[in-house]
Amino acid sequence: MSKAVFPGSFDPATKGHLDLIDRARGMFDELVVGVLVNSGKDPLCSVDERVDMLKRATFGMENVSVEAFDGLLVDFVDIKGANAVVRGVRGAMDFEYEMALAQANYKMNRRADTVFLAALPEYSFVSSSAVKEILRYGGNIRDFVPDAVYEFLSQKFM
Ligand code: PNS
Repeated sequence: MSKAVFPGSFDPATKGHLDLIDRARGMFDELVVGVLVNSGKDPLCSVDERVDMLKRATFGMENVSVEAFDGLLVDFVDIKGANAVVRGVRGAMDFEYEMALAQANYKMNRRADTVFLAALPEYSFVSSSAVKEILRYGGNIRDFVPDAVYEFLSQKFM
């Protein structure tokens, strides 16, 4: 059975993330979306909120589960019995960072081999940080995030 982990901070999850999840779940028997507990110094949402939003956004995707993880990704891969990691790449800037991450992870754990998916062009500029900034200045994030995330964030911040 093939099982992959799609890790991230997802603070918040974007439409680009959801597209990658939907595409990756077609490639593996199971896909575990791993939500990093500590998502940086200034998190918009708690880990429980991020997990909850992703669970709602992926509702109906039968082979997808969403879980929080803390510590090293390679350890989470082992705990879940997965044999691959999926990451999205939007462009050259992502690639530099993703290459180093993938190489370090593979060095630490041969089961944490990374599969890169190319982001769709329409999502190449969509990032969680852009969403946070737009939200901070009162802009409209509807086009950037899944409906479940939009509903949650509108109730919390708008
Ligand atoms: O959505 P992000 O913030 O780009 O995701 C980054 C993430 C969560 C994949 C990465 O920071 C991670 O795996 N963190 C867990 C700690 C870890 O294993 N770091 C890698 C050391 S080389």
